Amino acid sequence: MNPKRIIIDTDPGVDDALALLLALASPEIQLEALTTVHGNTNVENTTRNALAVLEFLHAADIPVAQGCSLPLLVPLHKSGDAVHGTGGIGNTNLPDPKVKPVDEHAVDYLIQRVLAEPKEISIFPIGPLTNIALAIRKEPRFAEAVKELVIMGGSLRAGGNITPAAEFNMHADPHAAHIVFHSGIPITLIPLDVTYKCLLTSEDVERLNRIDAPIARFVRDATAVYMEFYKKYEGFNGCALHDPLTLATIIAPELLTFENHYVDVDISGGVSMGSTLADFMKVSKKPANVKVALGVRGREFVELFIERMEALSALGGGA
Ligand code: BDR
Ligand code: CA
Repeated sequence: MNPKRIIIDTDPGVDDALALLLALASPEIQLEALTTVHGNTNVENTTRNALAVLEFLHAADIPVAQGCSLPLLVPLHKSGDAVHGTGGIGNTNLPDPKVKPVDEHAVDYLIQRVLAEPKEISIFPIGPLTNIALAIRKEPRFAEAVKELVIMGGSLRAGGNITPAAEFNMHADPHAAHIVFHSGIPITLIPLDVTYKCLLTSEDVERLNRIDAPIARFVRDATAVYMEFYKKYEGFNGCALHDPLTLATIIAPELLTFENHYVDVDISGGVSMGSTLADFMKVSKKPANVKVALGVRGREFVELFIERMEALSALGGGA
């Protein structure tokens, strides 16, 4: 089977960086481009980090387009330094990238790529949805031409990770999420309900580091601050592989179980602003707009992630 052609819209970000590693370690995936957005850190940092990770993996030929620096209506989210480290990828210290982003803004780049090959390219948004919402609004043919979106975000029954009700990517730009969820684009959602079942532990990272390789060290350095945060605030010894789990829809879909639901995003401005609400009881009588992952064999996914990192190390990635 031909590899699946994807563009990742991202805000690296520790787990974003791990998702990029996993994409490049997976022969089932053809990573066509990255577009960047504000989120875990500012967009200058997320762009720098995206370029630096690609160079680290000898994949600097993959284009990167820098996107929105601000959400549509709400103020920019406070810095995620405590979770993702000051530069955005924990304690890693990748050299400044030599390659520059493409000249086009991410919104125009996405429109141009998708319209050039309608229904061919899947977009994997793993940060706030600002770029995708603006592409939908700027070019009315965009929604029809995108093959699908596989989004990391939201929480249907698991509570929030940035407010008691909301997940970070949705809360960082709730109006953008609202536009996207009502766009008619086929959406697969990977919410906290499943990502919190995919915990990479410090033992896993130690095990991976039995190989003396740059990739293994990168995973250790990237996750160190992230794991401290989880230990302090969430009480466990590890970190959730939120963004990498979107790629399981390609490389190991059998690990996930899905349900189709009508899902809306709260933009009413109250305490549950940015929360995602699924109509489980079908009271609204509205047709499902989202295919949502609600079950995962989490440990198997983490093992698969580690295997792919070992394989990438053996290939000399990052050396
Ligand atoms: C999401 O928020 C970000 O901090 C992570 O990179 C992930 O995309 C998890 O809620
Ligand atoms: Ca992210």
